[in-house]
Amino acid sequence: MKKSFRFIMTAMLAIAGMTAKADEGMWLPSLISQRIVDMQEKGFRLDAEDLYSVNQASLKDAVVLFGRGCTGELISPEGLLLTNHHCGYGQIQQHSSVEHDYLKDGFWAMSREEELPNKGLSVSFLERMKDVTALVLEGCQAGMSEEDRVEIVKKNSQAIIDEAVKEGKGLRATVEALYYGNQYFLFIYRQYEDVRLVGAPPSSIGKFGGDTDNWMWPRHTGDFSMFRIYADKDNNPAPYSKDNVPYRPKKYFHISTKGVQEGDFTFIYGFPGRTQEYLHSAGVRYIEEISDPHKIHLRTLRLDIMNRHQAESQKVRIQYSSKNANVANAWKKWQGEVKGIKKMKTVQTKQEFEAAFAKWAKGGEFDGVTDRLAAIYAELEPYQFATDYYTETVRTIEIANFAMSIARLFIQEDSLVTFDNAKASELAESFYKDWHLPIDKESFTAVMNEYEKNVPAEFKPAYYKEKLAEYGSVEAWAEDMFTSSLFTDPAKTASLSPADKERVMSDPATVFFNEFLKWYYADVLPVTTRLNQELQLVYRDYMRGQMAYCRTQRIPKAFYPDANLTLRVAYGHIKGYSPADGTYYLPSSTIKGIMEKDNPEIFDYNIPQRLRDIYATKDYGRWTDASGEVPVCFIATNHTTGGNSGSPVINADGDLIGLNFDRVWEGTMSDIVFDPEICRNIALDIRYVLFTIEKIGEADYLFDEMTFTE
Ligand code: ARG
Ligand code: GLU
Repeated sequence: MKKSFRFIMTAMLAIAGMTAKADEGMWLPSLISQRIVDMQEKGFRLDAEDLYSVNQASLKDAVVLFGRGCTGELISPEGLLLTNHHCGYGQIQQHSSVEHDYLKDGFWAMSREEELPNKGLSVSFLERMKDVTALVLEGCQAGMSEEDRVEIVKKNSQAIIDEAVKEGKGLRATVEALYYGNQYFLFIYRQYEDVRLVGAPPSSIGKFGGDTDNWMWPRHTGDFSMFRIYADKDNNPAPYSKDNVPYRPKKYFHISTKGVQEGDFTFIYGFPGRTQEYLHSAGVRYIEEISDPHKIHLRTLRLDIMNRHQAESQKVRIQYSSKNANVANAWKKWQGEVKGIKKMKTVQTKQEFEAAFAKWAKGGEFDGVTDRLAAIYAELEPYQFATDYYTETVRTIEIANFAMSIARLFIQEDSLVTFDNAKASELAESFYKDWHLPIDKESFTAVMNEYEKNVPAEFKPAYYKEKLAEYGSVEAWAEDMFTSSLFTDPAKTASLSPADKERVMSDPATVFFNEFLKWYYADVLPVTTRLNQELQLVYRDYMRGQMAYCRTQRIPKAFYPDANLTLRVAYGHIKGYSPADGTYYLPSSTIKGIMEKDNPEIFDYNIPQRLRDIYATKDYGRWTDASGEVPVCFIATNHTTGGNSGSPVINADGDLIGLNFDRVWEGTMSDIVFDPEICRNIALDIRYVLFTIEKIGEADYLFDEMTFTE
């Protein structure tokens, strides 16, 4: 049974591959031979083995998963790495203070000694990947419950992982489900933990346009930062040590400064995080009509509060810069996503597809699949809504999160663990450094009032209802929590001792977090887990069903596994687009556009004086395009998502031409539905990176270790 299944999958994928035409798709590198002909027809001049090989160095060896959800690439034989400014943002901020404001002024290590270590930051290289479907499913039987299947899959996967990491130093492995568990792949990574900050432009370049321009084209953001990977003397992963030496990669990108033109072939290598291209209409409708709009509204309230306080104080501006950017990012994306889903009439199109599918499926293996999905969604929706609200309200209260993290030091499961003061001080230090009480308090009031208004009574914990009745209003509750909690006072937190368990556990901030958490684990999570497992089970059939249906009905559709933060290839070409009637956007931008936006009065558009001077004298060095201007960004049809930030944008010869960092706002629905007319990724032109290193950072000594192709 397994064998025939695998045969069917392979046959289906091959057929899907043959009929796919648009630039949609995020492909598995180890299976890229199935796409290579199409890639070459579109202009690619290398072979599958150049992209991915387990026998020789290939381009995959120059790409890393950076931190928790970005991509980076090696650009020198000495471990020099390029990623986005917003990917290194947390690190740049960590090293910043009012005295050394690297966010504002930029940072450039002028020698190896000046490179700054970053606790907790790691990068992972993919060693290899492998189809392990048969091994993972060993012991699974048709008709068994999803719960039992999950257990077996977990056990088998763990055994595969344990075996895989035995081979060498710093290895880490995961087994990931593809196509809703129709296929499983093993990914083996080598993870390096000594990664040092080398350089970052000032935010007025690296985040130029800020959240005003975020997700938008035309764009002029110099969104890059540089790090260096360090290894032990044998080139193996090692924790930070001053004796470590620069890592010598198997492969690094050569840099092309030839420039780009509309129509040029491009591809992207990176770690896209999550897409949901095969959703049932009910799932899409929930996103479009319910969850996105509510989440957007809740975040608008929080952002207004943050923005107001940040505008008032330089200190608060730095403290909340990273938090604000995180909240604002998804907030803005969701707005574009809703618009795009509506414009594409995705729900309607899916419903029509489902109706035709259901008719075709009558009496066969996939009979009733779409109805079952609809039924599960109907049951899931109120629980999902409660979860979304919980996540975007209760869980965003900073003091409550902090209180719980301290409380956890007292309530480890084995009672032998006693409260550890050093650990508490460490947590306290990083919390108080970036916490502004008035923001947290006002946010509490704002989001909990929405919670009160919009969440149905049967989805609120009893604790919440009692407390609210007791206080009489959310405002009074906030007043009490933010005055009486011991966590409002760093000195009180600092003096905690093992004897304070009771005090910490009964603190209003701890109780708030903990009571909601208990309610969530008891009343919500079990239901959503069960229903999501049921969904998985049915989606597994629906996935195969969609493939079978499209094949037998000769519907040309490209099937690729949804993104799951595993390495993928996306390819397309440089192309403009029309965002609205009567408007056409060209595919590249230049320094001229920066000057057009420049405005010292507007924070997001206030550029360094140095850049103004350079523009005035046209002191561009060799980093110009045919028109004599410095190119800044370009767009292309590569299918990308969150996680692709920092991904290398590569030309037909395999050379680096840019750095991916965003998508156009009108195309952000591509996580759910891809429109080749409108969906574009946004990349930083590598020449603007080089220009900035030389002319702004004066760190062109770094060029010595790079390889340029002219
Ligand atoms: N939209 C890009 C991404 O999703 C960039 C985000 C960082 N920039 C910002 N202005 N918030 O990661
Ligand atoms: N900026 C995104 C990231 O951090 C990439 C943009 C997107 O979602 O495509 O990965």
